[in-house]
Amino acid sequence: MAQKARKVRKAVLPVAGLGTRFLPATKAIPKEMLTVVDKPLIQYAVEECIASGIEHIIFVTGRRKSAIEDHFDFAPELEHFLEERGKPEQAKLVREISQGLQFSYTRQSEALGLGHAVLCAAELVGDEPFAVLLGDVIMEGAVPATKELVEIYEATGSGAIHVERVPRERVHLYGIVDAKPMNESKWGEKVLTIHGLVEKPSAEKAPSNLGVTGRYVLPPEIFDYLETTKPGTGGEIQLTDGLCRLAEAGKMLACVYEGRTYDAGDKLGFLQATVEIGLKDKKLGPRFREYLRQQKF
Ligand code: G1P
Repeated sequence: MAQKARKVRKAVLPVAGLGTRFLPATKAIPKEMLTVVDKPLIQYAVEECIASGIEHIIFVTGRRKSAIEDHFDFAPELEHFLEERGKPEQAKLVREISQGLQFSYTRQSEALGLGHAVLCAAELVGDEPFAVLLGDVIMEGAVPATKELVEIYEATGSGAIHVERVPRERVHLYGIVDAKPMNESKWGEKVLTIHGLVEKPSAEKAPSNLGVTGRYVLPPEIFDYLETTKPGTGGEIQLTDGLCRLAEAGKMLACVYEGRTYDAGDKLGFLQATVEIGLKDKKLGPRFREYLRQQKF
């Protein structure tokens, strides 16, 4: 029998959320377009896709999100203008935003939850594995986060997600996994078999302190599960509940993330990302460090 395709070529980026945590900034601007140092948040996720070998990005979008579409579209007039003004470096920056990628857009017309948003991309994904990246989470590590999951999926055929240890007082903000180290894994203790997941449990009811960070690589079977997933936590169709069904079928792995995660959908996380990414910036970093050093905190 022919083996199912394992190459992960597509990524789903759900961007339909209203961004209420960032009002008034997000009254007219999608939260995904808020800038961290010099790039909109969503560009970090798209760059991670490029670095992970993804070829086709599917945005699940909503009303008032056209700035995202414009950002990843060609801008010949702007490029021409910059070239003419002797700014080829800036023209290159604009050109390279979407280089080599195919983009598709589909709408989630009702805010029915992350699981529902992913299900909206089912037709565009088709019968092949795909990644999901939550655009308000920036993940920076030695290996691009999605690439690490793609490698696990392509080697095992099981769904793979990143998890990280979260402090007890933040457990209720995450999907939390019940997981045990995989037997005889080439990844050692870093990759775990997931036996169950709970969306946003109380600290008392949480099966562990391993929180789902916002990166997933999933087989197309997840769509069958999501189609029959009933609303769960918060009355929404939760991706976590669909993943639970994959875990019951013995097909879900967790990878403990070793890089740095910024939850930039949260104001403090956004500021942390801005400071730390600013400090790492080649041009800006040294002067910014000096500025911070001079502050009397
Ligand atoms: C979503 C997921 C949750 C995950 C989190 C990571 O929740 O439902 O399982 O842990 O992202 O940021 P949200 O933060 O969108 O409420």
